[in-house]
Amino acid sequence: MDGNGRWAQKRGHNRFFGHVRGAKVAKSVIEECSQMGLPYLTLFAFSTENWRRPRDEVRFLMKLLSKWLNRETRNLVRQNIRFQIIGDINRIPDFARKQVQKALDETRDCFGMTLTLALSYGGRQEIVSAVKSLAKKVARGELLPEDISDEIFAAEMDSAFLPDPDLILRTSGESRISNFMLWQCAYSELQFIDKAWPDFNSSDLQNALATFRSHERRFGKTSAQVIRLHDAKG
Ligand code: FPP
Repeated sequence: MDGNGRWAQKRGHNRFFGHVRGAKVAKSVIEECSQMGLPYLTLFAFSTENWRRPRDEVRFLMKLLSKWLNRETRNLVRQNIRFQIIGDINRIPDFARKQVQKALDETRDCFGMTLTLALSYGGRQEIVSAVKSLAKKVARGELLPEDISDEIFAAEMDSAFLPDPDLILRTSGESRISNFMLWQCAYSELQFIDKAWPDFNSSDLQNALATFRSHERRFGKTSAQVIRLHDAKG
């Protein structure tokens, strides 16, 4: 959800104004994805690197997140949306962590779309943490190094409950992955949208999904193999 700050500054407002608008856009996108029946939506709300921002901006974002969750949790339940998070929740201030926990608890039995917020999240940090966890298992004699596979590795990740993302969208015109799901994005379709997040709307979302559907995903195979497989499945 990139470009909130620049969007606001271009209009003569402070950066916070852009984040407030960004949070409203997040609500609309969540509702639309849920209504369309998408099974998973993950929003990159705050990266490990975002802690380096000015203190007042970090504080503002944490308060915004906390108020947003306080307001939206009942709407998530109403829409049968299960709330999840990935990232280092221990770094989040208490007042925000409380709201995160409340949203996790109150949506626990929801079985519609899974909405995951990446909060204090970094792809490299997630990988390092999985490596540490596997190393401990090896040290305890519970696992042989030669038995470590893609699947065993992925199961140690914070995001083990999520499938790899099919499509990753980044707004604001930057063509970077910026530490988002580095392991999981191996075969994701990437789309970089030349619009700031506060301007992202339903037709941008629908266009992105239409482009995604028009791409053939071969996962290393040939086009003929993929078509044969598709035909066999009917
Ligand atoms: C990146 O734009 C955005 C963030 C670091 C924060 C994203 C947060 C929100 C959209 C609001 C909170 C979200 C929820 C779901 C409650 P930027 O500030 O880096 O913009 P810039 O690149 O133009 O400076």
